[in-house]
Amino acid sequence: MNVPFFRVDASGNELRYVREVLESGWLTSGGRVLDFEAAFAEATGAKHAIAVNSCTAALHLACEAAGIGPGSEVLVPSVTFTATAEVVEYLGGLVRIADVDPTTGLLTPDIVEAALDAHPGIDCIIPVHLTGAACRLRGTPGSPGIIDVCEKRGVKVIEDAAHAFPALHVDGTPVGGAVGSVACCFSFYANKTITTGEGGMVTTDDDEIASRIRRMRLHGIDRSAWDRHTRVGAAWEYDVVAPGYKYNLTDVAAAIGLAQLERSEESRDARRRIATRYHERLGHLNELTLPALEQRPDSHAWHLFVIHLHPESGLDRNDFANELAASGIGTSVHYKPLHLMSVWRKLARIPEGGCPHSDTWFAGCLSLPLFPSMTPAEIETVADTVERTCSRQPAG
Ligand SMILES: Cc1ncc(COP(=O)(O)O)c(C=O)c1O
Repeated sequence: MNVPFFRVDASGNELRYVREVLESGWLTSGGRVLDFEAAFAEATGAKHAIAVNSCTAALHLACEAAGIGPGSEVLVPSVTFTATAEVVEYLGGLVRIADVDPTTGLLTPDIVEAALDAHPGIDCIIPVHLTGAACRLRGTPGSPGIIDVCEKRGVKVIEDAAHAFPALHVDGTPVGGAVGSVACCFSFYANKTITTGEGGMVTTDDDEIASRIRRMRLHGIDRSAWDRHTRVGAAWEYDVVAPGYKYNLTDVAAAIGLAQLERSEESRDARRRIATRYHERLGHLNELTLPALEQRPDSHAWHLFVIHLHPESGLDRNDFANELAASGIGTSVHYKPLHLMSVWRKLARIPEGGCPHSDTWFAGCLSLPLFPSMTPAEIETVADTVERTCSRQPAG
């Protein structure tokens, strides 16, 4: 049996809602985008949710609204997708790369504090809620979180939550809600936990940030096309107040998003059950480390299930992935770290000693299939094949 790395699940109201949009005659940003934004704001507890056409756009707009520009320095983790860093470059800022926690791949308050001590010019941090696990943004009095550390020094935080819907912070509040960051950015790319094909969302509790992002997502125009065509008054009358971007989401995409959102909790629970089953089946293998199962079953979005092959096991990650592929199992690698990418070696500031934890993460990491429509037989096939491959691969 072949098991793909990912298979999209559009088994709910997706087709019905898309058909309604096509029949309505209004395809671009309109009523369905407003509905999607309202539903997403409710799901995250955010005051504002602003729909855009990718998480990259969301990060770009959040950084722009936060005032990132020439002279700004922004700290990003090495283990992330290039989009987290590239938006800083778009705006003329300097990217500083930080190493990550070796077991979770996340930025920690200690890593951030050390980076801020070493580089007082840092204006902003972009923590990434990698795999769907929230970084520790808020702490307790004796043990501050990333935002606590940043607030003391006037450093802004923009969350990259491309993997983390729906997920909870340690205090049980939803990722995307009011935690003290400037904004939180989500991805609805094809294989994310909810998808619109391509798409994204920015959430924020700051009225000024929200209004800047709303304008800049559509050319810097002070009225949306929907607003101009649904209100009484001159449809053509608008002002352009800034040189903005073309980052709006369509109603067709929002229709898919609304249907996906309706099943987001159910889908997360299904992914969690698969993660639990992988633990039951693979937990005994000495060659591997599995991602920890969180205490609260609803706190992790489980976008990815990243196993790590131990260096002492003698297993080579690429050979292992190739063997799984030869057995029909799709896998992926998240991520080759930024400090190894030629563009960031040229443009970013990399710690003097490199990023050894990110190197270790990359050397052994492999993402197994994890999607809500996986059948029990598919889950067992993946587990059987991983188990078999562990024993077949030559040591050393
Ligand atoms: C951590 C992270 N940030 C940002 C992005 C960019 O998302 P999008 O493809 O929606 O622009 C991705 C996409 O995979 C990602 O994994």
